[in-house]
Amino acid sequence: MDRVAALKHGKAHHMEMKNMHALHLFLRLHTFAQVLLLFFSFTAAESRCILFNFGDSNSDTGGFSAGLGFYLGPPSGRLFFHRTTGRFSDGRLYIDFLCEGLKINYMSPYLESSAPNFTHGVNFAVTGGATDPTVTFPLSTQVLQFLHFKNRTRELWPQGSGSLIDENGFKEAVYSFDIGQNDISKAFTANLSYTQVIERIPSILSRIKDALKTIYENGGTKLWVYNTGPLGCLPQTLALRKQNDSKIDENGCLADYNDAAKVFNAGLLSLCDELNSEFKNATIVYTDMFAIKFDLIANHSQYGFERPLMACCGRGGPPYNYVNRMTCGQPTASPCPLGSRYVSWDGVHHTEAANQLIAEKILSSKYSRPKIMLTSLCKDSN
Ligand SMILES: *[C@@H]1O[C@H](CO)[C@@H](O)[C@H](O)[C@H]1NC(C)=O
Ligand SMILES: *[C@@H]1O[C@H](CO)[C@@H](O)[C@H](O)[C@H]1NC(C)=O
Ligand SMILES: *[C@@H]1O[C@H](CO)[C@@H](O)[C@H](O)[C@H]1NC(C)=O
Ligand SMILES: *[C@@H]1O[C@H](CO)[C@@H](O)[C@H](O)[C@H]1NC(C)=O
Ligand SMILES: *[C@@H]1O[C@H](CO)[C@@H](O)[C@H](O)[C@H]1NC(C)=O
Ligand SMILES: *[C@@H]1O[C@H](CO)[C@@H](O)[C@H](O)[C@H]1NC(C)=O
Repeated sequence: MDRVAALKHGKAHHMEMKNMHALHLFLRLHTFAQVLLLFFSFTAAESRCILFNFGDSNSDTGGFSAGLGFYLGPPSGRLFFHRTTGRFSDGRLYIDFLCEGLKINYMSPYLESSAPNFTHGVNFAVTGGATDPTVTFPLSTQVLQFLHFKNRTRELWPQGSGSLIDENGFKEAVYSFDIGQNDISKAFTANLSYTQVIERIPSILSRIKDALKTIYENGGTKLWVYNTGPLGCLPQTLALRKQNDSKIDENGCLADYNDAAKVFNAGLLSLCDELNSEFKNATIVYTDMFAIKFDLIANHSQYGFERPLMACCGRGGPPYNYVNRMTCGQPTASPCPLGSRYVSWDGVHHTEAANQLIAEKILSSKYSRPKIMLTSLCKDSN
């Protein structure tokens, strides 16, 4: 399937979804009670959805740039924003597409001091984010920032300023977490053995548990947890870490990295199961980002991608087009003409084309456990 066909396929999928809705509406029109139900489901659909996101560069909509005054130069943003927004991509991130699906504004970073808009929530994700407390904006700090935000919102509410998110808004908001990738990659780049990397996983999970617990104890009831992607397939990982004796899987990815990600993901899934029974009246949804991203690589030609392990923007050419300190955004790097043919934008982050597919798969609920649609979870109950 080429890119155009893939896009059409995406549209066909949307049509299918619309037809499903139409069918549901028709079935509901049978009794008066069901007409009322229909009315209420419409009003619910109109009410606002609020999202608080925690994570790393995979979902950073400008936090790193705002927080550190870091200028991410062109060609980032060339496809969609036509300016640099601090997003590590040629266009939108998966979280931007989720916002489109949820019919809310693109998320302002918590650290953005110039005209942020927090009406629909806050993005605490920062590039380099990890559970490791020694990074600049660890998960624990992002959670404290959220608590600060909530306190300030309450203080400002009587004056009619601030985000104006009310108590019910905080309770009904979706809290999403996309973290862990940097913890695992840092362990490998510290030259730990595979066994030593695996030994670090319980402490990574325990810090994620602390974060989820804190959000729950502060009134959050809808937690949306992403697992981590196949980091052994990143052009950066392959270019810098592949050795002659490295184990390579059938897709050309570093097996140890992907195996470590799978061990982490299995632990994260059981953590979500555990918390689903421990947290009363809460919903914790686990979404399999690994499967979503791995599908793009393994089945790349179906999606119109040519070289799934090569960065669009970088230096050095095939097989990975990645050279340390000559990465995308630096004058020594150059971009490919068509990002839509690549999964990887800069060797670490995805192209907008890949991000759009990732978001469609997230929104489908097919990769989630329990299978709850993000669009039905993210609704004000008022
Ligand atoms: C923030 O976004 C909301 C929703 O789109 C909009 O109604 C509001 O006017 C915006 N606030 C500012 C200050 O731009
Ligand atoms: C928020 O306010 C509560 C008191 O209402 C206080 O205990 C807590 O430490 C505050 N948290 C932050 C991060 O400011
Ligand atoms: C890890 O090993 C590589 C190659 O042996 C070396 O270049 C690098 O400095 C080491 N990294 C650390 C953090 O020790
Ligand atoms: C891998 O093998 C090639 C040729 O056999 C050799 O030139 C190169 O130095 C080796 N690289 C590493 C990282 O061992
Ligand atoms: C859960 O919800 C029920 C019904 O709304 C309520 O009675 C109960 O107190 C809640 N439990 C907790 C732990 O919040
Ligand atoms: C690749 O696509 C096939 C057919 O759609 C699917 O069955 C398979 O699970 C996909 N592979 C991966 C790794 O997702």
